[in-house]
Amino acid sequence: MVWHDVGKISLDEVPDPAVRGPEDAVVRITASAICGTDLHFVRGTMPGMEPGTVLGHEAVGIVEETGPNVRNFVPGDRVVIPSTIGCGRCSYCRAGYYAQCDVANPNGPSAGTSFYGGPRSTGPFDGLQAEYARVPYAHTNLVAIPPGVTDEQALMVSDILPTAWFGARLAEVGTGDTVAVLGAGPVGQLAVLSARIQGAGRVFVVDGHADRLETARLQNAETVDFNAEDPVEAVRDFTGGIGADRVIDAVGVDAESPASGPAAEAITREDRREFEREQAQAAPRTGQDGAQWRPGDAPGEALRWAVDMVAKAGTIGIVGVYPPHYTSFPLGLAMNRNLTVKAGNCNHRRYVPGLLSRIAKGGADPTTILTQQARLPGVIEAYEAFDRREPGWTKVALEVSG
Ligand SMILES: NC(=O)c1ccc[n+]([C@@H]2O[C@H](COP(=O)([O-])OP(=O)(O)OC[C@H]3O[C@@H](n4cnc5c(N)ncnc54)[C@H](O)[C@@H]3O)[C@@H](O)[C@H]2O)c1
Ligand SMILES: [Zn+2]
Ligand SMILES: [Zn+2]
Repeated sequence: MVWHDVGKISLDEVPDPAVRGPEDAVVRITASAICGTDLHFVRGTMPGMEPGTVLGHEAVGIVEETGPNVRNFVPGDRVVIPSTIGCGRCSYCRAGYYAQCDVANPNGPSAGTSFYGGPRSTGPFDGLQAEYARVPYAHTNLVAIPPGVTDEQALMVSDILPTAWFGARLAEVGTGDTVAVLGAGPVGQLAVLSARIQGAGRVFVVDGHADRLETARLQNAETVDFNAEDPVEAVRDFTGGIGADRVIDAVGVDAESPASGPAAEAITREDRREFEREQAQAAPRTGQDGAQWRPGDAPGEALRWAVDMVAKAGTIGIVGVYPPHYTSFPLGLAMNRNLTVKAGNCNHRRYVPGLLSRIAKGGADPTTILTQQARLPGVIEAYEAFDRREPGWTKVALEVSG
């Protein structure tokens, strides 16, 4: 699956990747998936992609070939590939901050997170929506799948379950906490699961899509439809006026404004102007084609709601993605309410082994949110349906081979 331009992706024949260095491995991908982050690249809200980059940063597969310095894997091993790339040897990787590795990003130690199938500033590294992929520093960037864990379960541990888990950690979820999750996409759904495991007493979920809210309710989350009620007022009302102790932003830069209901009616002309300013900053050029690849019309809305609905002295964990040049955040309100705000790209590798063993023991099943299976030839249609958030298209796994 290759990115050519905003609004333009296609399934192409590309040269097979090869082991280039002693720490590389090549993996034959058996299953991959489409992430909300991939949508930002096609919509134009995460700029800087290099034409020709293979997309995708979620995959499981079988090790095909290893370089001489990869001693913990041999061809034939069943593995999951964590989305972000770390070297395994720098001080950041050793401290578990794989997403801030000093070595993996060819743009230098200050360039930030490296991951598969991302913009120029992240490598770029070819992605995992392909038949084969090259994995650098494979000793660190491959994790063996324990017996009893299915490919589908492991696929959810490549990116979205660790991200959701990390989001709940950033939000400092603890025993008894009331947690509000903004966004009921795949990351938001698994943030509900993660918050529960980390001790949450009550979990609210805010979204505007009925089918996604219903999936969250099936996990016993308390649902709030922002197109029917004001989400900030609803969360405050349901919590005795206090708000949520912890809020997780699982929306990101493609946030939408409410289309109906009291929250829509409360939007002023100044708010609209602010949304437009944020949109122009987030996505100078979009891939929009009618209803397809439409960027969110209110990039800062989820963050504003987060700051408004969290209790005084509460914590916000931001895992929704915002591009590096994006600057809009209600800092004054956050400061005056004594909030703690933590954000970041997930340090996937830090959480993958623990989450796999939890799944192996029956302590969590992330596949309850998997709604669609597509074969690689049907990947464009799957991208389009996931982009339009069609009912029943919450998380799409791509069967590649095997
Ligand atoms: N930090 C990381 O390491 C990391 C890793 C994976 C994904 N992400 C990011 O997490 C976010 C979610 O990913 P996903 O795969 O679940 O994407 P998604 O696009 O399927 O989900 C986003 C959800 O947010 C909802 N939404 C839109 N506007 C909203 C608003 N104002 N308030 C509440 N909900 C709103 C949408 O209806 C949708 O259901 C994306 O920004 C993605 O890039 C981050
Ligand atoms: Zn992702
Ligand atoms: Zn490193």
